[in-house]
Amino acid sequence: MIGQAPQMGWNTWNTFHANYNATVVEQTVSLLNSLGLKEAGYEYVVLDEGWQASSRTADGYLQINSTSFPGGIKSIVDYVHDHGLKIGLYGDSGMLTCGFNPGSYGYEIRDAITLAEWEIDYWKYDNCGGFAAMTEAPEVRFGTMKDALALSGRDILYSVCEWGYQFPWHWGGDIGHSYRMSGDITASFVNETGCACKTAYCLNTGYAGCSVVSIIQKMREISQYQTPGHWADMDMLEIGNGNMTLAMQQTHFAFWSALKSPLIIGADLSKLDNDSISVLTNRDIIALNQDPLGVAVNYIESASEEGSIQIWTGPVRGGNVVLVFNEKSYPQTVTVSFDQLNLNISGNINAKELWSGKQWKHVEQVGTILEPYQTMVFQLS
Ligand code: GAL
Repeated sequence: MIGQAPQMGWNTWNTFHANYNATVVEQTVSLLNSLGLKEAGYEYVVLDEGWQASSRTADGYLQINSTSFPGGIKSIVDYVHDHGLKIGLYGDSGMLTCGFNPGSYGYEIRDAITLAEWEIDYWKYDNCGGFAAMTEAPEVRFGTMKDALALSGRDILYSVCEWGYQFPWHWGGDIGHSYRMSGDITASFVNETGCACKTAYCLNTGYAGCSVVSIIQKMREISQYQTPGHWADMDMLEIGNGNMTLAMQQTHFAFWSALKSPLIIGADLSKLDNDSISVLTNRDIIALNQDPLGVAVNYIESASEEGSIQIWTGPVRGGNVVLVFNEKSYPQTVTVSFDQLNLNISGNINAKELWSGKQWKHVEQVGTILEPYQTMVFQLS
C-alpha cells in the first residue's frame, strides 16, 4: 500500500517556481541517481506549478505545456519511470491553480482518469482558485478528488495541500495520504518572510513565508495526529537553499524526519554542496522517518526550557528517540537525563547520537555542548 511511510522525493517549486522544463527534470532524475538520493529512498519526482498549459484542450482536458515539454507528457513520464523513479503532478481543487492555470473543480473525474492514463503516480492538490469553489468546504473539494482518484483504477499518492487553513489534521488524513499543515515554507531558519500564524490553530490569511522553526513550533499542537497513511506534511525541504549552516540543516532534517513529515527535497540538485548531501542522505535519520511504528515525536514541555532548549521524544521500533534542540544563536551546555523523560525504558540504556555516530553504553544521562541551532538526535535502546 502506498503512503504507509511518509513519501520521499523531489519537487520543483522551492527552487524553480513555475520556470522549469524537461531538461531540468531530466537532469534532476540523473542527479537523484548519481548523488545516491534514490538509493537513500527519494523516489517521487514532482512537477509542481508550471508543467501544465495555461488552458485545457478545446474538448476540456488538461494538457502539458508544450514549450517547456516539447516531447509531450508521455516522453517525460517514460523518462522518469525508465530511470526507476515515480512521477507526480500538481493541480488544484479550485477553478484555477495558484498560478492561474486550469484547476480541477468540476473536472475531478475526468482529470483523475487523465492522470491514470498518463501513468502518474503522485497528485499534489492545492487550495487556490475561484470564488465558487471556495464556498465549498475543503472536505468536499478535496474529497471529490479522493473519490475520483479511487475510481481511476491507478494507485496514485494523494498529497492534499490546504495549507492547514481549516485544520486538516481533523479531516485531511481521511482524504489524502498526506496533508499540508502550514502555509508555505521559506528558505530561512528563524526569520519569517510572512507567516502570521505562529500556532497550528490560527485563522489568518497571511499564510506563507514560514521559517523552519515556526513550522516545528506549530507541530507541538498536532504531532499526535501522525499515523501511517495520514501524514501531516510540513512542506518541502529547504536544505540546500538559502544560507543555513550545517547545524540548521541538520535540525531541519531531524525534525521533518522524527515528526514523520514527507521528505520532499526542494533544492536544485546540481547546486547541492557536500554538507547538504550528507544531511539528506543520513541513513539513520531517514530510518526514523520511515520507521514502521509511524509515531511522531512529541514536545516535552516539562523537560524543555521555553525559547532555549527543546526536548522532543517518541517511540521507534526497538526503542526511543530523543531530540535536543538548541534554539539559541550561541552554544549551550546541556545535560539530558533520559530517566526523566517517561520513556518506558529504564536500567541499561544504550544511546547513539545519530549525526555523530557517538555511542554510550548503560547511561542515565548525557552531558554535551550544542552548537548554535544544533539538534542532537539520540536513539535509545
Ligand atoms: C502554493 C503551494 C505551494 C506551491 C504553489 C504553486 O499554494 O502551497 O507548495 O504548490 O502553490 O503555485
